Amino acid sequence: MELVSIEQILLASFLKIEPIDARMLLQHVLNESQVFLSTHPGWRLTSQQILVFNQLVKRRAAGEPVAYLIGERDFYDLTFIVTPAVLIPRPETELLVELALERVPIEQYCRVLDLGTGSGAIAIAIAKHRPLTTVIAVDISIDAIVVASRNAKKIGVTNITIINGSWFDVMAGVKFDLIVSNPPYIAEGDPHLEQGDLRFEPKLALAAEADGLACFREIFVAAPEHLNAGGWLLVEHGYNQDAACRQLMEEVGFIRPFSLPDLAGIMRVSGGQLENNF
Ligand SMILES: C[S@@+](CC[C@H](N)C(=O)[O-])C[C@H]1O[C@@H](n2cnc3c(N)ncnc32)[C@H](O)[C@@H]1O
Repeated sequence: MELVSIEQILLASFLKIEPIDARMLLQHVLNESQVFLSTHPGWRLTSQQILVFNQLVKRRAAGEPVAYLIGERDFYDLTFIVTPAVLIPRPETELLVELALERVPIEQYCRVLDLGTGSGAIAIAIAKHRPLTTVIAVDISIDAIVVASRNAKKIGVTNITIINGSWFDVMAGVKFDLIVSNPPYIAEGDPHLEQGDLRFEPKLALAAEADGLACFREIFVAAPEHLNAGGWLLVEHGYNQDAACRQLMEEVGFIRPFSLPDLAGIMRVSGGQLENNF
């Protein structure tokens, strides 16, 4: 196989995939930075590197998400291992982390529960930024628990416990100061499930019954008995689910439920608090 340069192989790949994806795949294959690619256009790849890169380009052109191809994704200020067993952490979910951190004092002991932790992105970001806090992360998928545990070890957080189970089933009698969740919320049968990256992500992480609201109902109904007085519940939801989430929260006893938009201006997170004397 003829040896080709970084510039040549990138230009050829741009005919098949987006330039940003091609650069990320090549960075991964060469184990080099973006800066290296830009400053070494004439660097020649080995025949093995050409082979591996071209295979990845083919898979990307067929739709596989870059994060699964390279095995990682940046989220908040951390890099997480991702496999097809977990949802790829999304930038819009960083809003949930920010709102959670605002409610967990840095110098105080708190207990936080993350329901449906997936890769552990939310739980681990909170644990990393609030070392005095104890975080419990739950997921029904054993494969997701394995990925979240690998991430906790890689990122070096020890104030987190990762548990396999369904929502609060493994939490009898346990109370928290804050419960966060980014549960499955796409309506079953929604055509988006058959498009783009979603085609490759676990259905268990994406789809929910009752127009996508089923998991919210289950979580909201049980949340008050697992929160201390004055405790907070924060959830991520779909673009048209904010009103339903606020109404459901109010029905189960949360006061002044609110919703906030993500950077794209889409209503993304809703939250509520229990009365101090709940
Ligand atoms: C939308 S993903 C969120 C993953 C991660 N928290 C994030 O924000 O990137 C939803 C997660 O909920 C988990 N899940 C689905 N049903 C569940 C249940 N009954 N109990 C616990 N976790 C569940 C899925 O396995 C999946 O990991």
